[in-house]
Amino acid sequence: MMYDLIILGGGPAGYLAAERAAGDGLSVTLIEKTALGGECLNRGCVPTKTLLNSAKIFDYSKHGKDYGVHFENAVFNHGEVLARKDKVVKRLVTGIKAALKALNVRIVEGEGQIIGKTDGFNVKVGEDIYAGKNLIIATGSIPAIPPIPGLEEALKSGLAVTNREMLEIKEIPEKLAIIGGGVIGLEFASYFNSAGSDVTVIEMLPYIAGATDRGISDILLKTYAKRGIDFKLDAKVTGITKDGVEYVQNGEKQSIAADRVLVSIGRRPNTAGIGLESLGVETSRGAIVTDEFCRTNIPGVYASGDVNGKSMLAHTAYREAEVAIKHILGKRDYMRYNAIPAVIYTNPEVAGVGETEESAKEKGIDYIKSEVSMMYSGRYVAENTEYNGICKVLVEKKTGKIIGVHLIGSYASEIIISGAMMIECEMRVSDVKELVFPHPTVSEIIREAIFKL
Ligand code: NAI
Repeated sequence: MMYDLIILGGGPAGYLAAERAAGDGLSVTLIEKTALGGECLNRGCVPTKTLLNSAKIFDYSKHGKDYGVHFENAVFNHGEVLARKDKVVKRLVTGIKAALKALNVRIVEGEGQIIGKTDGFNVKVGEDIYAGKNLIIATGSIPAIPPIPGLEEALKSGLAVTNREMLEIKEIPEKLAIIGGGVIGLEFASYFNSAGSDVTVIEMLPYIAGATDRGISDILLKTYAKRGIDFKLDAKVTGITKDGVEYVQNGEKQSIAADRVLVSIGRRPNTAGIGLESLGVETSRGAIVTDEFCRTNIPGVYASGDVNGKSMLAHTAYREAEVAIKHILGKRDYMRYNAIPAVIYTNPEVAGVGETEESAKEKGIDYIKSEVSMMYSGRYVAENTEYNGICKVLVEKKTGKIIGVHLIGSYASEIIISGAMMIECEMRVSDVKELVFPHPTVSEIIREAIFKL
């Protein structure tokens, strides 16, 4: 049978593409080799948020007396946290499967290999060949493993792990070393710091949290340093031994002891061995090259999600899936990457969208900024005891358009969508001044920042 669409990979890009396509009447086959939901649902976004929520509850218990609530005997049970995580993941994966089945999507469990084009695009799974008029490649990404001496042995022995295994370890490490102070490194640092590990983050840049606005990442660093996380910045890891990690900082060779090492130095598109060469799909540094419609260089072949290397976030993947389906259906839509929010689920949460001060300067954008303490929000003050949150809004001087919104503080992950909408809709300061924010909410902080301009 010739399907309208074959999708390779059942993560956020793949399963959402299947849902949208089938919802619009296309016949769809979705091929997935491990579990529906991909890295996000099984080994990333969702399980880590489950863990971090337990850590947050435990953190509250430690400071309960500041709120007039005493939890003298709070116990953190990592095993029970993991069991709950497994239940949450199972429930959501089951939900996706049921939704796809209800839409008559054919789900094929197995590893797919693109083998070329005859009447349609052919993908082989075991002995079976599936043919489709269109193909979406949504094979995601895998952890990047740097060529650090001793790392390969450490990964084999289990001393070193990636995010995948880190979510399964049964014991809280006594001394946890994290290589890479990006999103994955910081979220795990946050969890294990709350759970009682002695955490060290080794980062090669002079700052943490990558592309996050620097003013915000500095606050995050100070907050976690105060809670006991040791940050080694501007540090180059030179080796991993059975006792820990060796690195060079300020020209000096140093080492730290660790009974677990997390490697979180980034991810790379998962394009090797999936048969791209059989169609001649163009790649650049391992990522599939796509345009604003998520088309590859081969008509009828699309690539959505981490595999195109543009913005490795599950919510970008969702949108790229929708854009690819719209293009297949002949409906007009295209990717706009300038208003995609980014969140780090630490406690306090960090969220940002649009230009940071650093990116605006680099692009030569003439901007003005407003930065206010979260203390301007009544709800924030009512619900916190540590008042270091801020909101920063960047505005293009010439036009008054909002070009960046950045937050550190409670609910930042939930509030940032309003900033994304302002940027996506090209709103100006005068437009936002006319919006009504509910009171008392932390979201009012954006209004406060805007009125200071
Ligand atoms: P990342 O790119 O966020 O951070 C990697 C960090 O490692 C960078 O700060 C980099 O400078 C550093 N680094 C690279 N090589 C190093 C070395 N040899 N020694 C020390 N430091 C080194 O990558 P991460 O944290 O692995 O996350 C991977 C992807 O997953 C990202 O694209 C991220 O957006 C996505 N993700 C998103 C989440 C969210 O939206 N909350 C949560 C988890 C992952």
